[in-house]
Amino acid sequence: MTDSSKIKFAVVGAGHIGKRHAEMVRRDEESELVAMVDVRSQEECEATHLDVPFFTTMEEMFDSGIEIDVVNVCTPNGLHAEQSLAALEAKKHVVVEKPMGLSKDNCEKVIYKSLQESKHVFCVMQNRYSPPSEWIKSVVEDKILGDIFMVQLNCYWNRDDRYYMKGGWKGTQNLDGGTLFTQFSHFIDIMYWLFGDIDNIQGKFKDFTHANSTDFEDSGMVNFDFVNGGMGCLNYSTAVADQNLESSITIIGSKGSVKIGGQYMNEVEVCNINGYEMPELKAANPANDYGPYKGSAANHNYVIKNVIDTLKGRTTATTNALEGLKVVEIIERIYKVRNEQIDI
Ligand SMILES: NC(=O)c1ccc[n+]([C@@H]2O[C@H](COP(=O)([O-])OP(=O)(O)OC[C@H]3O[C@@H](n4cnc5c(N)ncnc54)[C@H](O)[C@@H]3O)[C@@H](O)[C@H]2O)c1
Repeated sequence: MTDSSKIKFAVVGAGHIGKRHAEMVRRDEESELVAMVDVRSQEECEATHLDVPFFTTMEEMFDSGIEIDVVNVCTPNGLHAEQSLAALEAKKHVVVEKPMGLSKDNCEKVIYKSLQESKHVFCVMQNRYSPPSEWIKSVVEDKILGDIFMVQLNCYWNRDDRYYMKGGWKGTQNLDGGTLFTQFSHFIDIMYWLFGDIDNIQGKFKDFTHANSTDFEDSGMVNFDFVNGGMGCLNYSTAVADQNLESSITIIGSKGSVKIGGQYMNEVEVCNINGYEMPELKAANPANDYGPYKGSAANHNYVIKNVIDTLKGRTTATTNALEGLKVVEIIERIYKVRNEQIDI
């Protein structure tokens, strides 16, 4: 790949986030959108403005002979692993929306194939690009907080019948997989990115308001130890009435404490560290706006840029496949605790 050549992207899944990928690819001068795939027609997807060949299966797209460097997998969660495998099999690099898969086993197969084909798998965890995330990563890495004693992750969002449409994939066990996979994997990723793996997981889970709309719990209180020292907890719910309340992380270290809050961990609310002055941070991008409900940070432009820069040998993947797998594996272990309990 020469430094001046454009990277050719094909997007699979032309829903909310697939169209965002397509738009970000079109906006970057070093990339080009060459095809899209969706089981629905281009009209049904409201994607007629994206003037590229539109296919109903990945096979048809690959058979068409269109030149493609990267396939972006933007379909329901339960399809991510098999479609990533199909793209690798066709010798394409892969960008896979979160979560990378719905089981560690599936993610392992993808990593194995990517190594066999010498192709990259980029996982989408765009909240890592938020200014508070970049800042806290450097604070933790430089040991400015000292030893980590306690970490509390609170994810309190609203997801009601405006979100879980009858007949859709959201809320189903096989295509959605659960609240932690679909709503909160970004925040579990930030916790793993900052503090590493967890162990000794315990938890309580409840379904307060989603008995008729999802196959799984909507709320949980989970606690654990960090393998690197310190302990943590994750409190989460999608049963918050009407609108998102917060996504926050509170960190208690031997040299001070930090709280990052806001609706999607976008505001540093407290920074109280011995002898340390908080720098001024850039403004965060707004949340993805889906009308009545809000999602995570609108940072997909950085994801596409990172793919281009990595393929052109300028940098490395911001979220690699092993990190994508670890988030899935942590969620799988939390859900194992849930599944061992009767009262959900
Ligand atoms: N990174 C983020 O912040 C973020 C935000 C929203 C969604 N997502 C992720 O993006 C993915 C898609 O979410 P969405 O909100 O865009 O959902 P969506 O329902 O709007 O879009 C999914 C699209 O996939 C299509 N599809 C279904 N089966 C297919 C198949 N076999 N082949 C091709 N296309 C198929 C559907 O027709 C639909 O157009 C999910 O994995 C979700 O977790 C990530």
